[in-house]
Amino acid sequence: MFKKVIKTLLVLIVLGAAALYMIMPTVNIPWRMLVGATLKETVMSQRLEFPEGFRLSLFVTGIKNARFMRETGTGDILLSSTNTGQVYVLYRDQDGDGRSDGNHVLLSELNGPHGLELRDGWLYVAEKDAIKRVRYRSETRQIEGDLIPLATGLPATRNHTKKTIRIGPDDWLYFNVGSSCNVCIEEDDRRATMMRMRLDGSELEIYATGLRNSVGFDWSPRDGGMYATDNGRDLLGDDYPVEELNRIEAGRFYGWPFVNDFGDKDPDFGDQDGGLVSRAINPVHGFRAHNAPLGITFLRKGRYPEDFHHDALVALHGSWNRSEKDGYRVARLSWGPDGAITETDFMTGFLKEGDVIGRPVDVLEASDGAIYISDDYTGSVYRLAYGEEGESMPIATLADTFIPVEQRETFAADTIARGQEIYETRACVGCHGIDLEDNAQSPLVDLAARKTRAEVIDILTSPPSSMPRIPLTEDELYDVTAYLLSASPSDN
Ligand code: HEC
Repeated sequence: MFKKVIKTLLVLIVLGAAALYMIMPTVNIPWRMLVGATLKETVMSQRLEFPEGFRLSLFVTGIKNARFMRETGTGDILLSSTNTGQVYVLYRDQDGDGRSDGNHVLLSELNGPHGLELRDGWLYVAEKDAIKRVRYRSETRQIEGDLIPLATGLPATRNHTKKTIRIGPDDWLYFNVGSSCNVCIEEDDRRATMMRMRLDGSELEIYATGLRNSVGFDWSPRDGGMYATDNGRDLLGDDYPVEELNRIEAGRFYGWPFVNDFGDKDPDFGDQDGGLVSRAINPVHGFRAHNAPLGITFLRKGRYPEDFHHDALVALHGSWNRSEKDGYRVARLSWGPDGAITETDFMTGFLKEGDVIGRPVDVLEASDGAIYISDDYTGSVYRLAYGEEGESMPIATLADTFIPVEQRETFAADTIARGQEIYETRACVGCHGIDLEDNAQSPLVDLAARKTRAEVIDILTSPPSSMPRIPLTEDELYDVTAYLLSASPSDN
C-alpha cells in the first residue's frame, strides 16, 4: 500500500515535470524562476522605496529611451522616446489596474524629440534643432495635418542637444539650450541659456544665460518663480561642484562656465570672465555633485498628505563619471516658512550597491492625482498613487532583459583604447555618431546592460539588414566590443 502511494507520487512528479518542461518555452518568467536564473525581476519590485501610503505600479514598459511626458486633455500621457525619434500616446488606465490600457506611436522620424507641451489643441514638440507644433485631438488620440516649424536651426551639435519645452504662466514657450561642451567659451550666444518665444514662434529671444544644461523647469505655485535644474560641470572630483536648482529671472546670468557651486571661480575659466563672475546668481539649492537633476514638477493637486502640498519632485538621473555611483532617485524639495529648501528622498532603490535598475528622467503629476516617473534605462513609466486600493504591483518582466552589473565583463584599459580607435576610424561613427548616446537613429547607449560580448560580436558578424557588415579580425572584434560594453552612459 505504502509502496503504491510512493510509486503513484513518483509517476505524478515525472509527468508533472515533463508537462512543465513542455510548456516552459512559452512561459517566460516562471521558467527562469524555476531554474533559479537571475531573479532580478523579483528584486526590482522589492527594491524600490517610496513614502508610505502610495501604491506603485508599472504603468508602461518596453519604450526605448522613455524621456519627457505631458498629459492630454483626456488623461492620456504623451511620452517622448528621444533616441528612436518617436512620441507615444500612453492610454489612461480605465480598468484601475495601475497600467496603461495600451499605446501607439503618434509621431516618428523626428530628430531627437524631447520636450512636449499641449495648449489649445496644439501639440508642441522640441526636436534637437527645431520646435514644431501640430494639431492634436485628444478624443481620437490622433494628430491632424503636418508639423509646422516654429523655430529652426537651433544649436544641436556636440553635447547637450536635447531640448525641454514648457509654456509659462505668462504664455511664453520656454526651452533650454545646453552647452556644447563640459566647460568652454561658447561661440554661439544661444548655447548654455534658457530661451523663449511666443506660442506662434515669434519674438524668439535669450531669456537667461550661464546655464550649462537646464533640462527641467517648472513654475512654483508658492511664489510664481521659474525654477530650473542645472547640471554642474564635470572633472573636478567626485563631490564638487553641486548640481543646481536656480530661480530663473529675465536677463540674469547663472555662472557657467566661470562660476561653480555657490560662487566659486572655475579653475579653468574663472579668470576670463570679463566681469561676469560678480554678477553670477547663486543656485537656490545644491544637489550632490554628479546626481544629474533632470525633470522637476511642483505638486499642485494635493492628493497626498498635506505636507506634500506645493513641494517639488526632481528626477535625479544619476552619475556617470563619479567613482562611486550616486543619484538614481527622485528627490523631494520642501520649502520652509522662511523659504529655506530641504531635500529628502521620495523614491529610491534604482541604485543599490553599485547596481542600477533604473534612471529617472521626468516627473509628471496627472489629473488622476497620481505621480508618473519616466525611466530611460528600462524604458518604463512608473505610477505612484496615494491612497488607492490595492497592493503595490510586483514589478516583474521589467528587468528580465537586463544584465546585472556583477555579471558584466570588464576589460583592460588598453583593450578599450584600441577598441575606441577602431570604432572611430572604421565607419561606425558615420552611422552611430562619435557620442554613443547622442544619435537618433542607432544609439549604442547602455549596451552593457542589454547585451553580452558574444551577442555584440554576433551583431557585428551578422548585422541587422540596416547595418553593413564591416570586416574586422577576431582581435578587432574583441577590442571594439570591449569599447562598446565599457562606455559610460551619459549624464543627461
Ligand atoms: C551604415 C550605417 C552603420 C554603420 C556603418 C554601422 N552601423 Fe551599427 N547599426 C546600424 C543600424 C541602423 C543598427 C540598428 C539599430 C537599431 O535597430 O536600433 C545598428 C546596430 C548596431 C548594434 C546593435 C545595437 C543594439 O542596441 O542592439 C551594434 C552593437 C552596432 N550597430 C555596432 C556597430 C559598430 C561597432 C560599427 C563599426 C564597426 C557599426 N555598428 C557600423 C547602422 C550602422
